[in-house]
Amino acid sequence: MVTSIKDTIHLNNGVDMPQHGFGVYLIKDEDEARPAIAKAVASGYRAFDTAQFYENEALVGKLLKESGLPRSDFFITTKVTNPKQGYDSTLRSVEKSMKDLQVEQIDLLLVHWPSKKHFFETWKAFERLYDEKLVRSIGVSNYEKHHLEKLAARSNVKPAVNQIECHPYLAQKDLRAWLAEQNIAAEAWSPLGRGAVLNDETIGGIAEKHGKSPAQVIIRWHLQHGTIVIPKSVTPARIAQNADVYDFSLTDEEMSAIDALDRNGRTGPVPDEVYEKI
Ligand code: A2P
Repeated sequence: MVTSIKDTIHLNNGVDMPQHGFGVYLIKDEDEARPAIAKAVASGYRAFDTAQFYENEALVGKLLKESGLPRSDFFITTKVTNPKQGYDSTLRSVEKSMKDLQVEQIDLLLVHWPSKKHFFETWKAFERLYDEKLVRSIGVSNYEKHHLEKLAARSNVKPAVNQIECHPYLAQKDLRAWLAEQNIAAEAWSPLGRGAVLNDETIGGIAEKHGKSPAQVIIRWHLQHGTIVIPKSVTPARIAQNADVYDFSLTDEEMSAIDALDRNGRTGPVPDEVYEKI
């Protein structure tokens, strides 16, 4: 059972990754980012999830440095953006990410979306970065089972993580179960379902019973399912609230009631459509 924001998931390559991190998508403005990241660090977050696409790696790198904590305290994830996929451009883009983030090594590097065109070349570059120890672990994002099966047929290193859209309205039950069988950690993006799920009546009822907020209940649901969760917020009070989920737990009945809300409520792009396009 999860007991603290310091709890980790043991990845398939032996690296320990915090199960509960902070997402920084859309945090670009320094005046907004500074208090948000300071609050996140003060609230106990040590894992930060960024991406080349977010255009904030330099800002995140600078603000984590400013925190005064040593680099080794943090677990930093970034992702290679679609236009940078391919062997050489992946290598060059990661060099720039490391410079921007002011790190010698990235903790987790993800392929942001599956790409039919660059499928194996991008992963070959990832394997090279991993062999050269420039990244501690490599994984993918938005991969369906069949993408991972295709990758497994022609790769040497298995992805450690698959980061997917996942929240109570898109619970990804089958994919999560398959990932667990494969020993690939599931990580949820948009874990709160961006608004709609936060207003759900069932979740509201459970939240009221525990004296917690709907966001806290949803984060707890992810954690109790063993999913890595990276809620994002620019609001300091919510950042602290989203970290404060270790003084209650959901019963089996409550977990099932939230599981039953699943309704294919995808908010982001369909992975197979992106795969064909990029
Ligand atoms: P804000 O950044 O303005 O605080 P998701 O991670 O599912 O995409 O959801 C992120 C959205 O949820 C953001 O718009 C964020 O708003 C909002 N949010 C994050 N934490 C909470 C919370 N504890 N209560 C209500 N809304 C929240």
